[in-house]
Amino acid sequence: MEPRKLTKEDIDKVRSIEGFPIGTDEDIIALSDAPYYTACPNPFIEEFILENGTSYDEATDDYHREPYTDDVTEDKHDLIYNIHSYHTKVPPKAIMTYLEHYTNPGETVIDVFCGSGMTGVAAQLCNSGARKAILIDLSPYATFLTSNYNNSNSINVISELKEK
Ligand SMILES: C[S@@+](CC[C@H](N)C(=O)[O-])C[C@H]1O[C@@H](n2cnc3c(N)ncnc32)[C@H](O)[C@@H]1O
Repeated sequence: MEPRKLTKEDIDKVRSIEGFPIGTDEDIIALSDAPYYTACPNPFIEEFILENGTSYDEATDDYHREPYTDDVTEDKHDLIYNIHSYHTKVPPKAIMTYLEHYTNPGETVIDVFCGSGMTGVAAQLCNSGARKAILIDLSPYATFLTSNYNNSNSINVISELKEK
């Protein structure tokens, strides 16, 4: 998906969704980095899913994984984890373990309670190859933090920290 400017017409498509933020269109537009991050329900999500999703077909689907049962304990004094605080934040290394087990590189995962966006960070850092992530949260603060944790500049820095 190409970068674009969020417009009032785009916002009109999602304005009636429950939980739409209390704020002016000008502020929502200024905060957004469309199409990937919008400071309101994302009007471009359908386009992203059409471009990146795969329809489920019971007849041909051969996905199978045994349940992951090993320990996923990770240190919370990790450099990446501590860039910014967030309540109930999950260390991305723990999420990476699950993503590596349950998904293949290039696949898309969704976290509808994304908080500070650690699922997205984990998806981009997977050792076997990046996954894509759709990240949603009711809190505009959480999605703003998620967007800044997950943009390409941050991920470049975070990738270096991963080795330390
Ligand atoms: C446990 S925190 C997630 C923390 C996240 N795993 C991380 O590592 O930062 C749960 C999140 O769910 C969000 N939330 C609660 N109710 C929600 C709802 N109905 N829809 C979307 N998000 C919701 C909260 O704002 C909070 O950020």
